[in-house]
Amino acid sequence: MADVWSSSLDLCVELSNRGSLGRGIESALRQAICDGRLAVGARLPSTRALAHDLGVARGTVSGAYAQLAAEGYITLRPGAVSEVIWVPPAIDPPLDFELDRVPTWDLRPGSPDSSGFPRQAWVRTTRAVFQRLPLDAFGYGSSQGASELRQALTGYLGRARGVLTSPNRLMICSGFTQALSLICEVLRRSGAEAVAMEDPCAPRYRDMVTSSGLRIEGVPCDDQGIAVAALHGLDVQAVIVTPAHQYPLGVTLSAARRNALTDWARQRNALIVEDDYDGEFRFDRRPVGSLQQMAADRVIYVGTASKTLAPALRLGWIALPTAIQALAVEIRDQLDRGNAGFEQLVLAEFIGSGALDRHVRRTRGEYRKRRDYLVRALAQDVPQATVTGIAAGLQALVTLPGETSDRALLTAAKRHDLQLHTLTDYWHKPGAGHQPAVVVGYGGPPANAFRSCVSELAAVIAEACGRTTLACLHEP
Ligand SMILES: Cc1ncc(COP(=O)(O)O)c(C=O)c1O
Repeated sequence: MADVWSSSLDLCVELSNRGSLGRGIESALRQAICDGRLAVGARLPSTRALAHDLGVARGTVSGAYAQLAAEGYITLRPGAVSEVIWVPPAIDPPLDFELDRVPTWDLRPGSPDSSGFPRQAWVRTTRAVFQRLPLDAFGYGSSQGASELRQALTGYLGRARGVLTSPNRLMICSGFTQALSLICEVLRRSGAEAVAMEDPCAPRYRDMVTSSGLRIEGVPCDDQGIAVAALHGLDVQAVIVTPAHQYPLGVTLSAARRNALTDWARQRNALIVEDDYDGEFRFDRRPVGSLQQMAADRVIYVGTASKTLAPALRLGWIALPTAIQALAVEIRDQLDRGNAGFEQLVLAEFIGSGALDRHVRRTRGEYRKRRDYLVRALAQDVPQATVTGIAAGLQALVTLPGETSDRALLTAAKRHDLQLHTLTDYWHKPGAGHQPAVVVGYGGPPANAFRSCVSELAAVIAEACGRTTLACLHEP
C-alpha cells in the first residue's frame, strides 16, 4: 500500500497494490468518504492534479471520478471542482453532543468572566509584538519559557504577589494543571512517595496526584487554613496548599500558620507547593503576599493567567527553588520543549505596558460588586444559607442547613438548568458528616446574566431546602 499526497488539496490517497490503478483510486476515495475523512462539501483535487501526484494518466483519475459520481458520492461537471455530496449514514452511534451542551445558567467555580477579557488591548499588543518579532522567535525557544516573559513576570510577581524570584528561576507552563503534573514527576524522581493535600481540595488535582503514583494524605482545614499541626504526624515529602484563598473553603492561611508551615518544611526538608490561583483578587483586606517569600528555597510557587485573563491562554508560571530547578527543566524539555512562544511574548508585553495591572484593577472592582450582590441577594432570598470565603477570589462557599441533601440540590438545579458544584466531591472522604454546601463560582457568568444566575441559585436553594424540610416532615 502506498500513501500519496495530492499537491493541490493535500488529499491522502491510499492505493492498494492489488487490482487496477483506476479501481484503486476509486475505492480509496470511496473509503475516505465512508470513513468520514471527506465530509459533505469537501473538495477533491482536479483530475489533472491528482493524476500528476499519483503518476498516473489523467484518464485513469477521470474514470474513478466518473464512477464515484455515478454512485452519487461526488459532483462531476466539466471545468468545475468536484465535491463530496453524499456520505452514507454512519454505523457508529452519533456523538453525544449533550455532553457539550451549554447550560442556561452556570455558577461552577473556575472561570473568570470571559466577556471581560481585554480583547482590544490584547489585539493591540499582539499586533505590536508581531510587527517587531525577530526571526529567532519563530524557532524552538527555551523549554523554560521566553526570557522576555520570565523577565516581565519577575518584576510583576515581586511587586504584586511578593514573590522572590529571578528570570532564571522561573518556568512558564500551561497553567497550574501542567505545573502540578511536572511537580509530581519531579517529586517522584527525587524519591518522594507521599504528599499532603488540603481537605477539602479540588478533586481534579487529587486525581492527578494519585495517577502520578504518589500517595495522598488529607490534612483538615479550619478558619486559619491548613492545620499544620496535623502535618507533623505524617510521612510526606511535600504539601500542596492554597494559602491566599483556600480552595474551596475560601479562608486565608493565617500568619501563625504560615510560620508553622515553613518551619515544618525546613525541619522535614520537605517542599511546599503554593497554588496562587486567584491571589490577585483580594477585596476587603490588605494584600496577602505569597508564602514563597518566607521560604524561597522550600516553596514551589505556581501562578496562572486563568483567573486574571482567561483559562484558554493555558499560561502559568512556576518559581522554582534552586534544589529542583535542573531536574524540572530536564523533565520539561523531554515533555514538550515548552509553551507556544507567541502568546508568551504577547503576555510579556501586556505586563510590561501596565495593561495587565489595569485589567486586574478594573475586574477586581467588578468582581467585588458581584460578590456584594451575591451576599445581599442570598441573605434576602434564602436566609437559611450562609456565605463565607468571600474576602478574595472568584468563588464563595454557600453553606446550607444540615438536612439539605445534595440530591435535592442537584435535582432542583437540573430543573432550573443551573450548573453548580456541591462541596461533597471536594472532601477526601465525602459523606463523613460534612455540612452541605455549594461552591459558587461567581466570576464566570457574563455581566448581563449574573443577577439572573443568582436568582436561579436562590430559587434552587429555596427549593432544595423546602423539599428537604417537607421530606423530614413526612418521614414516619
Ligand atoms: C484550585 C485551583 N488551582 C488552580 C487553578 C487554575 O488551573 P489552570 O492554571 O491549570 O487553569 C484552578 C482553576 O480552576 C483551581 O481551581
